[in-house]
Amino acid sequence: MVAKNRKSKRLKFGSTIQQAVEFGEVVFICVGTPPLPSGAPDLSAIDVVSREIAKHLKEYRVIVEKSTVPVQTGEKVKTAIQKYAKPGTTFDVVSNPEFLREGSAVKDAFSPDRIVIGAESDRAKELMLQLYKPLKAKTIVTDIKSAELIKHASNSFLALKISFINCVANICEISGANVIEVARGMGLDSRIGPGFLNAGLGYGGSCFPKDVDAFVDIAARMGYDFHLLREVQRINQEQRERFLKKIEQELWVVRGKKIAVWGLAFKPNTDDVRESPAIKICAALRDAGAKVRAWDPKGMDRAKEVLTGVEFCADMYSAVDGADCLALCTEWDDFKNADLAEVKKLMAHPTVIDGRNLWDPATMTKKGFTYRSVGR
Ligand code: UGA
Repeated sequence: MVAKNRKSKRLKFGSTIQQAVEFGEVVFICVGTPPLPSGAPDLSAIDVVSREIAKHLKEYRVIVEKSTVPVQTGEKVKTAIQKYAKPGTTFDVVSNPEFLREGSAVKDAFSPDRIVIGAESDRAKELMLQLYKPLKAKTIVTDIKSAELIKHASNSFLALKISFINCVANICEISGANVIEVARGMGLDSRIGPGFLNAGLGYGGSCFPKDVDAFVDIAARMGYDFHLLREVQRINQEQRERFLKKIEQELWVVRGKKIAVWGLAFKPNTDDVRESPAIKICAALRDAGAKVRAWDPKGMDRAKEVLTGVEFCADMYSAVDGADCLALCTEWDDFKNADLAEVKKLMAHPTVIDGRNLWDPATMTKKGFTYRSVGR
């Protein structure tokens, strides 16, 4: 897409903010807002970019916050631009949060569930509506603060849904029910919906953990204790510990055992290992004295940057060679389609702890594996 659009001269790259401000009627701010040690987002990049935009403003521009920012950031951006722009310069600030997912970004960008536009003036609203018109997507036009909140509230709600189903999975394990069936039954209620009800190792990635932390921090700064979300964080953390416990229960002594870990990325179809439950599990097993042998279809290079004391294998079969246990941490299709007879033959003992409910328990038992998954 980049190559095609560069060729047709619809896409250009520049290295100064001035070029962008002079070129576009609409200027998107897409810088990172990484977490500070407190969990609060670091807004320094937004600040720098806002001041730089202000310096180059000559005619009316719409400045769009695309980055995920705390509610009321729009006001701060507006003030910063007013302070640094020449008197009399006209501009509007708009909040237009992004909802795309890693691994399906292009599809999500062109077929979004909804577009959210938070704007104050009719001029800015009209320009944004015109911009997105070709996508023919459901569009909400609202005030800036509400638009900003929609992003944190949406990501946090999805994280909450995951923690909720993980709690239900834990009850399923105790009671003998099957969380897949429970989630199916719940998801058919249109008020609940089927998405984000997969129990597993909990959420990871560069968005949910960061955004839930940020939302808790934003609320606290305003004097509100968002304890529901603090519980969501705790449950998410606990879910990994429960997985480690299962490995320990099966192996009795973890120290000195060979454990194969399949999957390092925080979810399939990405090489991203940021806040990946798999990385934390590898580290915990390593610290417990296990010999960890890991493999991931795309995440190996990134994992090598953040994980030491683990053997990175050449392929998934060499990872399980001689292993006392296989820990499945990311639900890649490569694993789903693996030759399980070969896996069984290679392992020292065919114990599989499945953190993503990738395989069917009855089939695994039939194939001779000692198999445990989540909530079934
Ligand atoms: C997420 C949101 O889904 C996007 O809408 C949002 O734009 C993006 O964050 C962002 O703020 O930039 P992403 O982090 O790419 O997107 O990944 P998701 O597909 O949402 O998965 C997040 C985590 O939740 C993964 O670790 C995944 O394994 C886990 N998950 C997801 C579950 O454990 N169970 C589920 O049912 C669904």
